[in-house]
Order: sequence, then C-alpha cells, then structure tokens
Amino acid sequence: MGKARINKRKPKREGKVVTVGKAEAVPPGRGATVKLKDGTEVALFNIGGSFHAVENFCPHKGYPLADSRLYGGIVECDWHGWRFDVRNGHCFTDPGCSIESYDVTIEDGWIKLLV
Ligand code: FES
Repeated sequence: MGKARINKRKPKREGKVVTVGKAEAVPPGRGATVKLKDGTEVALFNIGGSFHAVENFCPHKGYPLADSRLYGGIVECDWHGWRFDVRNGHCFTDPGCSIESYDVTIEDGWIKLLV
C-alpha cells in the first residue's frame, strides 16, 4: 500500500461547533470542500439528506476527497481508487489508514460541524 501521507490541513479536535454554510448548497450525492478560518479543511458529503464530514485528504497520496466520487456512503478517491466510508472514516483499501470523521448537524438549514 505504500507509506501514508500526513494531512497538514486536518482540523484539530477542539470540541467546538462551527457553522460552515447552508445545507442547500450541497445537494444529495455530492461533496464539498469546507475551509475553516484557521486554514484547515474538511470534505463534507450529503448522503440523501444526511450530512457527514471527514478530513479532505486521501492518506495514499493526498488527493482531496471532496473532489472524488460518492457511491452511497462510500467515497472513492479519484486518483487511485482508495475507498472510505464517509460516515466513520473507515478505509476499505487499507484499514490501517482510516481517516478522521467529524460530527455534523443541521439546525434551521445551517450546517454545524463539531471539530
Ligand atoms: S491519492 Fe491515491 S488513492 Fe487517493
């Protein structure tokens, strides 16, 4: 599988809720890059109206997962096909390379991210 890369733009766990935008901006079956004020970012996905966030970085060679294709709850990296469950960060290709996942809630149409 090769050596995993380090994601320098992974949000730190601070236990805070951040409002990142309107839910209507991310249609079902799509992903979006969400940039936070400190320069970090996540990949946000809408699975049939249920929102999920993971780090926006494939541990294989760093491709942004928000730009990759979504199959149900699975995102498949566009570069070399590594697959991740966007609901919990599990990596199906190399379970030792699972990615960080972040809780998302929707309140009055606003997306709230727990980092
Ligand atoms: S960068 Fe190679 S599979 Fe994602």
